[in-house]
Amino acid sequence: MNAQVSPVLALQGITKRFPGVLALDQVSLDLYGGEVHMLMGENGAGKSTLMKVLCGAYQADAGEIVVDGQRVPMTSAADSRALGIAVIFQEYSLVPHLSVAQNIYLGREPLTRWGLIDHARMQADARAVLARIGLEIDEKREVQGLGVAQQQMVEIAKALAQNARVLVLDEPTAALSDREVQRLFELIAELKKQGVAMAYISHRMDEVFALGDRVTVLRDGKQVATMPAKAATPEELVTLMVGRKVDMSYHRGERPLAGDCLLEVHNVSCVNGIEDVSLKVHAGEIVGLSGLVGSGRTELARAIFGADKLTAGRMVFDGRTLKSSPTQSRQLGLGLIPESRKQQGLALLRTVCDNLLLAGLRKLFPLGVYQPAKAHTAARAQMAQLRIAAPGSHTQVQTLSGGNQQKIVIGKWLAAGCKLFIFDEPTRGIDVGAKEEIFALIDTLVRQGCAVLMISSELAEVVRVCDRAYVMKEHRIAGELSRDELSQENLLRLAMHHA
Ligand SMILES: Nc1ncnc2c1ncn2[C@@H]1O[C@H](COP(=O)(O)OP(=O)(O)OP(=O)(O)O)[C@@H](O)[C@H]1O
Ligand SMILES: [Mg+2]
Repeated sequence: MNAQVSPVLALQGITKRFPGVLALDQVSLDLYGGEVHMLMGENGAGKSTLMKVLCGAYQADAGEIVVDGQRVPMTSAADSRALGIAVIFQEYSLVPHLSVAQNIYLGREPLTRWGLIDHARMQADARAVLARIGLEIDEKREVQGLGVAQQQMVEIAKALAQNARVLVLDEPTAALSDREVQRLFELIAELKKQGVAMAYISHRMDEVFALGDRVTVLRDGKQVATMPAKAATPEELVTLMVGRKVDMSYHRGERPLAGDCLLEVHNVSCVNGIEDVSLKVHAGEIVGLSGLVGSGRTELARAIFGADKLTAGRMVFDGRTLKSSPTQSRQLGLGLIPESRKQQGLALLRTVCDNLLLAGLRKLFPLGVYQPAKAHTAARAQMAQLRIAAPGSHTQVQTLSGGNQQKIVIGKWLAAGCKLFIFDEPTRGIDVGAKEEIFALIDTLVRQGCAVLMISSELAEVVRVCDRAYVMKEHRIAGELSRDELSQENLLRLAMHHA
């Protein structure tokens, strides 16, 4: 690492308030060229807010931003772009109906001599950036047709195309599979050599040690530590983040043997590309659904739930034939908790209470009469159980941090009393402490006779939590692993195996 004297960018004493929340309390951060600075902290600690101040999306109530030793006003995204700052946001910020190329060059489109947008050049440039990150995708495609992982890769391409001196990455790997993560890490190493200063937000301990030169930990808006990554241990970081010791030892433990078969899928094919899939899930089981991003895991979940129509095969759930209808699935006690909380999981303008109870209203109010006091009491209990950080149950969901929104998606479904939960990437963006609590909750449900089908890109998580797992490849089941065979190597081998 080059011993640089002055930071490329420094945040000094940043304070930011929202109604009812002191999101940042005098936080200072130095970003040096050629260094990756990791930002850690529980959901709602203030990480994203700090980065939004850095890039001009939010105005700080107090504090200064210094670039190359000069104090700069940061009042808009255009200001920060002009200073060479690029951001990969946690919440996807692409424009759905524009093409991949248009998104990458949004606001800085190359022009022809006549001052018109030079589409040919824009597409060629976009192709070059996409090739650089190893993403095989048509640059003329509309972004709204892409999966979450592909959208994330486009976000990354967009930031790279700016040739920034400061790059902010807010949980960039949350939606990526191992192979894409590897590619991103290589890119980051390359950018480091080029002297780019990076701030990187992550909940994943392995990333902190693989990438980080320094680590800053935030807790409740306060800076509790900044230190060289080499000087930190995982246990120490966790304790700093949560302010207490966390039991990270959750693992399956011995559960009673699986019960009756709850879901049978026989030779199902679906309009979304799923081909000839058969599988079973028993009561009292957590079954993993693994595979690379794009292998069809989300599509299979949608096919089972009835969100996409079947073209062949049949499904039986709890003794009844599934009619490929979401309404029927829900009535029978089959819940799908989607991966994209913004698009499918939440009513962002409604309150925490409304959202938590949405899926379980009927159960709480069997006579159909809504009682606000009862609703809020139930919501507050759920908030406490999942440690959702929000000023209250009346708070609008869109003002919550990314991880807290994710907890609400989960909480909402846990309250719904399903027999089978299909979770699509349940712990994406969730902090270490809350992850353990979610696993413990899932474990409780399963012990009570529910079942879980869990899609996860984190191999270690599948191995740690699941009783067995199916691995998908090219929209088919590539294989099944029993508890004894369940290892990261076996999962990866099946996922990558060339027929
Ligand atoms: N636009 C907003 N309006 C009101 N409150 C907000 C707004 N943005 C953030 N907050 C609040 O500020 C606090 C910090 O949120 P922030 O998004 O920075 O957390 P985070 O550390 O990024 O968490 P996560 O790991 O869940 O992404 C939270 O309490 C959040 O609810
Ligand atoms: Mg965040």
